[in-house]
Amino acid sequence: MRLPEVKAGLRTCRPSLTTQLARFFIHPIISSFAELLAKNHGLPDDRGMLFASANAARRALSFVQHRVDHEDKSRIYVLDFVHNPRLPETPISAWTPFTILLYPSHCFPFAKQFWQHTGEGVQSRRAEYCRQEYEQGALVERSVADEFLRQAKGPKRYRKAVKSLDSATSDGRGDVSPVDGLTDVDRARFLEERFGRNLNLEHADQAKLAVRRRIAGSLTKDTELHNALSLSPDLSRTREVAGFSIDDVYVYPCGMNAIYNTHRSLLLARGPKQAICYGFPYIDTLKVLEKFGPGAKFYGKGDADDLDDLERRLEGGERFLGLFCEFPGNPLLRSPDLKRIKKLADEYDFAVVVDETVGNFLNVSVLPYADVVVSSLTKVFSGDSNVMGGSAILNPDSRYYQLLKKTWQREFEDRVWPEDAIFLERNSRDYVGRIERINKNAEALCERLQAHPRSKQFHHLCNRTHSSQSHSQRRILPQSRPFPLFLRRL
Ligand SMILES: Cc1ncc(COP(=O)(O)O)c(C=O)c1O
Repeated sequence: MRLPEVKAGLRTCRPSLTTQLARFFIHPIISSFAELLAKNHGLPDDRGMLFASANAARRALSFVQHRVDHEDKSRIYVLDFVHNPRLPETPISAWTPFTILLYPSHCFPFAKQFWQHTGEGVQSRRAEYCRQEYEQGALVERSVADEFLRQAKGPKRYRKAVKSLDSATSDGRGDVSPVDGLTDVDRARFLEERFGRNLNLEHADQAKLAVRRRIAGSLTKDTELHNALSLSPDLSRTREVAGFSIDDVYVYPCGMNAIYNTHRSLLLARGPKQAICYGFPYIDTLKVLEKFGPGAKFYGKGDADDLDDLERRLEGGERFLGLFCEFPGNPLLRSPDLKRIKKLADEYDFAVVVDETVGNFLNVSVLPYADVVVSSLTKVFSGDSNVMGGSAILNPDSRYYQLLKKTWQREFEDRVWPEDAIFLERNSRDYVGRIERINKNAEALCERLQAHPRSKQFHHLCNRTHSSQSHSQRRILPQSRPFPLFLRRL
């Protein structure tokens, strides 16, 4: 089937699609909660977009305000929802606050761009949980919470007013009357029973640790979580950079969020400079580089000529923030010459960010050539299409390491919802075996297609002979094997 036919097919079936990749299509649980909040707290005709981080929502605000007409700018605003101070805090209270971006409905396309490119929006499990809390009065808009706090601190005669405020907000904007008169312990039990859910945060923390160890390459056994954390590290597969530890592995709610935050942190650390997008990348990566900060120089072919041009610019005095590339590229499987890129980066002072999603870290070893390695865990790592994830790894051997580490320590917010971490950990237990199978299947497919008389052009890694078949690729991928067997040590 050719591309126009695929596109036409997609157009026909789109009306019957109920959901899709969560960064493209806002999950119905999220959009109906946003609608409810917009109705309760916004102006008529407002729509809303939900963010787990107040900072991210404010970045979305600024992104949308820069793109709308002057008269709409002041109609875009954010509201924070926080734990109701009249209820006892539970460990999950630290996880439930969220922020809504409100805007006139015709500004939705700009909010949607931010959502899609950055992956900063909430996930559906978080939205579902927060909706329950909101409807039970455990999450209230910040001004309501401030009012509760003021009244609780004020003289007795004002405390009376609290009751009337409760009854005035029976649509979920702060009604806590069902638990009035109970002790703190009873209230906590009431809330837990009422919500019918008790998230095991300790379990979620362990799941995040196990996921980070898997990304580090030091946890490769397919085993239950409680065993996994007591195993000694698999030193044969751990990342090949001296001084590397799992403290340098950061997990994000999706791959684009890792890429967006890497670019954002580089801008904060190194100042506003143009990025280089080398090779034709996953579309949202290019959009992030183009739309945030001072933009990007795009080298779509990602071949030796492109590097020659870059070198001429650098020799001529142009300076850049960092070079972003995929290893190998998706979908043409071009592999950038990482050795030459690293040499240029060392000489002309720019960072190198490599997306290893397609190669995946069991097959390719790119950390020694990069300052940051990013990946989408949504695909092969998870393998189950019921949760998204992303990662960024800092190279402790990078000349920017201290600077980047400091920036990440300041900027990184763990926003992987506890239940999502549990799903991601469970799904990824057998990733080594799955990757082995995928490699074998792909090799068989590769041989079949290559032999087929109607195959015109065939893209796989190891039949390439051009010079961009780089040092790192040769080192990792035995030349005699076709693409799927560019295995390292499986
Ligand atoms: C190479 C590559 N990087 C990044 C991403 C974005 O990942 P996510 O969908 O988890 O945000 C994708 C998505 O397909 C991808 O193919």
